[in-house]
Amino acid sequence: MTYRIKTFDDYKKVYKKSVEKPEVFWGQQAATFKWHKKWDKVLEWDFKKPDVKWFKGGKLNITENCLDRHLPKRKNDTAIIWEPNDPSQPFVTYTYQELHDEVCRFANALKANGIKKGDRVCFYMPMVPELSIGVLACARIGAIHSVVFAGFSATALADRIKDATCKMVICSDYNARGAKTIPVKEVVDEALKQNCKSIETVIVHKNTGGKVKMKKGRDKWWSDEVSGKRKTCKPTVMNSEDMLFILYTSGSTGKPKGVVHTCGGYMVYTEFSFKNVFQYDRGDVYWCSADIGWITGHSYIIYGPLLAGATSVMFEGVPTYPDAGRFWHICEKHKVNQFYTAPTAIRALMAKGDDLPNHYDLSALKLLGTVGEPINVEAWNWYYEKVGKKKCPIVDTWWQTETGGMMISGMGGLSPMKPTHAGLPLPGIQPCLVTAEGKEIKGNNKEGLLCIKYPWPSMIRTTYGDHERCRQVYFSAFENMYFTGDGARRDKKGLYRIIGRVDDVINVSGHRMGTAEVENAINEHDNVVESAVVGYPHDIKGQGIYAYVIIQNAVKDVNAFRKEVLKVVTKEIGPIAKPDKIQIVSGLPKTRSGKIMRRILRKIASGDTKNLGDTSTLLNPEIVKEVIKGKA
Ligand code: WT7
Repeated sequence: MTYRIKTFDDYKKVYKKSVEKPEVFWGQQAATFKWHKKWDKVLEWDFKKPDVKWFKGGKLNITENCLDRHLPKRKNDTAIIWEPNDPSQPFVTYTYQELHDEVCRFANALKANGIKKGDRVCFYMPMVPELSIGVLACARIGAIHSVVFAGFSATALADRIKDATCKMVICSDYNARGAKTIPVKEVVDEALKQNCKSIETVIVHKNTGGKVKMKKGRDKWWSDEVSGKRKTCKPTVMNSEDMLFILYTSGSTGKPKGVVHTCGGYMVYTEFSFKNVFQYDRGDVYWCSADIGWITGHSYIIYGPLLAGATSVMFEGVPTYPDAGRFWHICEKHKVNQFYTAPTAIRALMAKGDDLPNHYDLSALKLLGTVGEPINVEAWNWYYEKVGKKKCPIVDTWWQTETGGMMISGMGGLSPMKPTHAGLPLPGIQPCLVTAEGKEIKGNNKEGLLCIKYPWPSMIRTTYGDHERCRQVYFSAFENMYFTGDGARRDKKGLYRIIGRVDDVINVSGHRMGTAEVENAINEHDNVVESAVVGYPHDIKGQGIYAYVIIQNAVKDVNAFRKEVLKVVTKEIGPIAKPDKIQIVSGLPKTRSGKIMRRILRKIASGDTKNLGDTSTLLNPEIVKEVIKGKA
């Protein structure tokens, strides 16, 4: 077990050491895990390439550290408490021993289906224990998992399968989400029609038991595949820097990119950060309400908690089903001690009934966490007062798919807590603020672009199949720094407050999207000539999606046209990318070189039309008036 920080002074000491002697510090943390061979070197790095190696030469298997390592002392401790969508159905638990056995059985099934070390396996599944089991089974045999959020469309799924040339898809028959039943297998079938030549096998987990079509020779039932398989499976020994998984995320340009994380560093950092930020003690019940389709689920539903031997709740459903008290009901039912969710969920529940948490016994709660987007002060206060009854510290954890783990956050209740501020960096994390020219801004009470100037163990290693893109996006803007894409402010005491993205990435209900990606989807509509998408402040979602579109032929029924656009976006990406507002325009404000002036469009979408700044350099300044007038 890695070091557990117990006081604020302790944090300061540990932080100092982690910065002054990073290799000594991380070497000590790594030594607490099971390795087949010790590393030769803790760290080797060059941000120019980028080339970052942690625990170079070390050999390990992460699942041995998640599972086998705990068996001698805590095999009967609960690893997962699974709460189904339908609250009248019984919840299901897995002890560490049971989880180990299921992971091994499924790992043997993967092997029997020809999956080998280095093969890519795609998951498209709801929040059921089999998703964690499948992911860990991949890691057991060195296969690389690529989990795709089950809310994405067939086209988006196909894009991701093709980019990673996955050999197998693992899915469910149907997904139960609130009152809805979603035909997951059907979406997979649809995706596989889109030229996914690399797929040999589809394994289907029976979730709702609804009817599905099975393609002979390709589609197999999960239950058939694990039947008769042994409960042990020798872990494949991996190099520290072997790939553990790919997870797709959006950037300012182009298609989503496959962020690559590797075994050794990711293991060390997710356990260390989990335990310290949440101040997790053995026996506590921890619940992260995220979906495993996002990085939060990878690091803090699967790997971090299991590495730490924790007990965690996994929830299949949605916060508002059967009613907006569901989260609090689950906290009461399972006596949740640490609860981790997104500001969007907090805002949505707050709007559904300010007083709802008071109807439940939330006395087990010790700590609350938030992640994914800036939290506004109203939501922070409500969370603190109504949910935590002013006795639970809030950890506002800033991080990204690319960072693999939490980067800036309060340490349990140990470090200073200030609403809307993520706070201080975790040990080993060296954030800085820089100017647009790349000059570091020293001192407090300053604002700038957020960069990280030293490697940390769980950082992105590459973007799958396109290393140059990784270099360009994250390591080329500023010399010898990782650029986050966020703007931030450091207050008088050095606490960081994340302001938001400074690039063309928007954050809608904690879902990250590239404006270009949404534009490309909209442009698939036959009658659309060009479009521009921007984010605007939205009370519940944090940011809403505003789309300006130029059409070829005038439409009679604007609402019908809007519906068609939503349909196209749903087909290309998924319902999460549907614009909240669509405005038909005759032109878009452009610079003389033909670039869309998004700054102006953002202001108009936010209703801030007084301070548009200088529009005289536009190629077509006259268009601005029209756009303002027609605001949706
Ligand atoms: C972007 C990363 C980290 C897991 C979920 C999101 C924003 C994330 C916070 C926070 C303000 C936050 C940033 C970041 N973000 N956490 N606590 N406060 N903003 O991962 O999908 O990779 O998105 O989410 O803008 O860059 P992601």
